Amino acid sequence: MAESDPFALAHRAAAALAQRTGVGCHDVVVVLGSGWADAADGLGEVVADVEMADLPGFPAPTVEGHRNLARSVRVGETAALILGGRAHLYEGHPVDTVVHGVRTAVVAGCRTAVLTNAAGGLNPDWPVGQPVVIADHLNLTGASPMVGPAPPDGQATRFVDLTEAYSSRLRDLARQVDPTLPEGVYAGLMGGAFETPAEIRMFAGLGADLVGMSTVLEVIAARHLGAEVLGISLVTNPAAGLSDAEVDHQDVLAAGVAAGPRMLDLLAGVLERL
Ligand code: HPA
Repeated sequence: MAESDPFALAHRAAAALAQRTGVGCHDVVVVLGSGWADAADGLGEVVADVEMADLPGFPAPTVEGHRNLARSVRVGETAALILGGRAHLYEGHPVDTVVHGVRTAVVAGCRTAVLTNAAGGLNPDWPVGQPVVIADHLNLTGASPMVGPAPPDGQATRFVDLTEAYSSRLRDLARQVDPTLPEGVYAGLMGGAFETPAEIRMFAGLGADLVGMSTVLEVIAARHLGAEVLGISLVTNPAAGLSDAEVDHQDVLAAGVAAGPRMLDLLAGVLERL
């Protein structure tokens, strides 16, 4: 059945998730970006696995490095929902589809959203494999989940405050797990192709430290529904023009696999402290 109201669709998906997992309320959602998929194994005690595409409104992931799995795990007292992939604008999905996973998770009870991604690094001090806490973002997608019909009655209005889009409390908590974690500004693009060196120089001038093709729209949608957000990028390559090498998706994935154990420890440490 087609659903024109994306919030109603998120409610239907949350109900299906509760029914399929047997978990009525999840506390935290973790979205795994390109190359992070292996971090799903070993995060807490598995309660249930659900094919994401079986839930209303979820498309099958088409991007290599993403897994089509919504996993419910228990970490101590915390019920965590691990989404093993996400939808992107560059796959041709509308914004509401891109943010549907996060909206569903928040409607399913998650007051915290941990959003991870693979990113090109603009800071020459950061080696490939460096995790970076996102301090703020530049939404350069030209899109927003708050464009469209006004949110229905009972939802916050569209004009979401993004002054502290990335919770300082959660950023501090991530640094308790790993005090060496740097922070940076993530520039989120529509993507589909990697950037040109001239674009990367422009983004550096705009204040970007990281560049990628996801996350920013999900953050806005999560904040709109009142969830607290932690964003973590894994630097998988120097951004275009900052090294002699070309940017290659296979290298992005390989960097994710190589960093897997460190990312798993970081995510587990965050979940334990929530
Ligand atoms: N640019 C955009 N997205 C990315 C990159 C990059 O260099 N690396 C991983 N995701």
